[in-house]
Amino acid sequence: MEIIKAKAKDAKDIQKIIKELTIPANSKKDTGFVDYNIPKIGTISNRIKNSNFCYVVLDRKKVIGFNMAYEQKALRKLDKDRDPIIIYFSKETEKDFIYWDLLGVAKHKQDQDLGSELTKQLISDAKAEGYKAIYAVIVEKPHYNPASTSLLTKEGFSRKKALKVRDLTFGIYKLKL
Ligand SMILES: CC(C)(COP(=O)(O)OP(=O)(O)OC[C@H]1O[C@@H](n2cnc3c(N)ncnc32)[C@H](O)[C@@H]1OP(=O)(O)O)[C@@H](O)C(=O)NCCC(=O)NCCS
Repeated sequence: MEIIKAKAKDAKDIQKIIKELTIPANSKKDTGFVDYNIPKIGTISNRIKNSNFCYVVLDRKKVIGFNMAYEQKALRKLDKDRDPIIIYFSKETEKDFIYWDLLGVAKHKQDQDLGSELTKQLISDAKAEGYKAIYAVIVEKPHYNPASTSLLTKEGFSRKKALKVRDLTFGIYKLKL
């Protein structure tokens, strides 16, 4: 198993995992991307090309997990993708933060510490490059995601406020680096 920086060509495999992990808001599952508008392969590869903080986990060269986060200058370029949370963070005036968008591990590889490892890699790279904070968001209502909430809390993130986007309420979490 190895964690490396994602390349544009990984977009297709990442999209496949996103599809596998997307759940409806009324799902009873304890984790998943809630009612997520699945990005096109071109959108995902554009996000990878514009950011230094996108990763994949490989198992025998196969992508089994990914982590996508964007620095501020990347957010401004991604704005046109019309993701409401990306738009929200692209307007943030605070300096030197990273917006952590998506973390996903293929179902058959969950509970093996990969989510934690991907998180630690992002945090240590962001620190090394002099960033001051990482922001993450998790859907809290109508679906609650105990897996990501406890992962974020374990890694030192704290909840700052709520953000309502259409029918979903997100919790905004921050880690000071
Ligand atoms: C969230 C996710 C990435 C975690 O990945 P993972 O590789 O299974 O997680 P790990 O094995 O590294 O576990 C790390 C921590 O996460 C938490 N966690 C993971 N799965 C959990 C679950 N089902 N219930 C409660 N906590 C859970 C725990 O705190 C765990 O630490 P512990 O093992 O010391 O208790 C994975 O469940 C996933 O892909 N979910 C679907 C997509 C999603 O919702 N992503 C987050 C929103 S962007």
